[in-house]
Amino acid sequence: MTREEFQLLRDYVYEKSGIYFAENKTYLLESRLTNRLSELGCGSFEDYYYFLKYGGDKVKDEIINLFNAVTTNETSFFRNPPQLDAFNVIIQKNYLQNGLAETPLRIWSAACSTGEEPYTLVMLMLEMIEKYKKNIPFMVYGTDISTKALDSARAAHYTNYSVRNMDEPMKRKYFDEAEGVYRLKEHVKRHVKIDFMNLMDTNAYKTYRQMDMIFCRNVLIYFDDKMKKKVIDSLYESLKPREYLTIGHAESLHNISRAFKPLIFPGTIAYQKG
Ligand SMILES: C[S@@+](CC[C@H](N)C(=O)[O-])C[C@H]1O[C@@H](n2cnc3c(N)ncnc32)[C@H](O)[C@@H]1O
Repeated sequence: MTREEFQLLRDYVYEKSGIYFAENKTYLLESRLTNRLSELGCGSFEDYYYFLKYGGDKVKDEIINLFNAVTTNETSFFRNPPQLDAFNVIIQKNYLQNGLAETPLRIWSAACSTGEEPYTLVMLMLEMIEKYKKNIPFMVYGTDISTKALDSARAAHYTNYSVRNMDEPMKRKYFDEAEGVYRLKEHVKRHVKIDFMNLMDTNAYKTYRQMDMIFCRNVLIYFDDKMKKKVIDSLYESLKPREYLTIGHAESLHNISRAFKPLIFPGTIAYQKG
């Protein structure tokens, strides 16, 4: 990939997804797009760029393939436990002690990848419902830009690696396992609505309003500051007043937004809408 080809494709990917490949990531972008070239029979990265730019009706489908190729979908069940403990505390304090909300809780896993995050949130809710013997109506929304990841999320079949943070009783409770494949039980799946959603697309947030809790973890790292601001402002609008946002433990809202109140929990921070 030449420098010019890298710049053309880097800018195109950024314009469509907000994902920003810095100059030192040239090799990564190249390796991720090599398959697209061979599948389309493009002779060079420049040809591929011109196809994306001027390819007519076929471009819509190719953009989906492009998103599938350039995204990093690494995730797992029960990732970053301190954030999940904070989630438990917030739900207990706000919805179990202070009385239940009139409408079902709306929880959004924005950039849910292959589903481990939204399904973890369902398990946490089900555990609390069982422990406190209170019915808390809730719905979890799982969205992502990668249709490949979303297909896996819908199938909900997982490997040992995905469930490595879970103990045996929890695995048995929530999965049917056979020959190393963990099939998520239906009663967990039915709490999650999985859909395509590009965080770059301000219009698409319309469907995700009045949220009680948003998890948007480990995706801001792929954006530049301009895109981070745009996404965080939109997520702010999607929350009900005084409700909560969780971002990845290595991510920060420093220089991105002052609209949220940071709340300190053991080992983590949650952000409350003002
Ligand atoms: C590393 S995974 C994080 C998954 C999960 N949130 C977690 O923390 O385990 C990042 C996800 O962000 C998604 N993503 C990247 N850009 C996006 C965008 N513009 N809109 C929606 N999702 C995006 C990728 O497809 C990928 O599945």
